[in-house]
Amino acid sequence: MKIRRFNRKDLGDIVEIEERAFPKSPYSPFTFLHYALAFPKNFLVCEHEGKIVGYIIFHSDGHIISIAVHPEWRRKGIGTALMNEVFKRTGGKAMVEVRESNKIAINFYKKLGFVFKTRVPLYYGDEDALIMVREQDLEEF
Ligand SMILES: CC(C)(COP(=O)(O)OP(=O)(O)OC[C@H]1O[C@@H](n2cnc3c(N)ncnc32)[C@H](O)[C@@H]1OP(=O)(O)O)[C@@H](O)C(=O)NCCC(=O)NCCS
Repeated sequence: MKIRRFNRKDLGDIVEIEERAFPKSPYSPFTFLHYALAFPKNFLVCEHEGKIVGYIIFHSDGHIISIAVHPEWRRKGIGTALMNEVFKRTGGKAMVEVRESNKIAINFYKKLGFVFKTRVPLYYGDEDALIMVREQDLEEF
């Protein structure tokens, strides 16, 4: 497994992960290309034997724009490895909006040291967002 910057050739694999991870509201291929152009250093992929198994896009201040891991590759530490790349760049600080029904993601962020900060009513149109933050580097990471 290796984590590296996104490359245009990764787009097909990323779109497949996206459609499986967010079937209600996947980002379009154009959105990914926009992020690749706008934040080339902050769009990372995890590659395994030539296939992309996960990705993360973030702002330099640690605001997570999106993270997803291929369903067949979940629960193997890939999401954590991608988040650790962000923490390395921000000194541990990060922030994310998450659908309140996305209990798996909420657990994932809690495990990484995020805490609940506030709720944004109907942020997703049909659902509230929880804002979760990670304030600083934690010893166990
Ligand atoms: C959230 C997501 C990125 C996690 O990726 P992952 O590679 O499976 O995560 P990891 O293997 O690093 O898991 C780290 C910890 O998160 C928690 N976690 C992850 N998946 C979980 C699950 N299905 N149920 C409960 N806790 C879970 C656990 O505490 C886990 O540690 P453990 O395996 O030692 O118990 C992945 O589930 C995903 O792509 N989900 C769909 C997209 C999504 O919801 N993105 C976030 C939007 S805000």
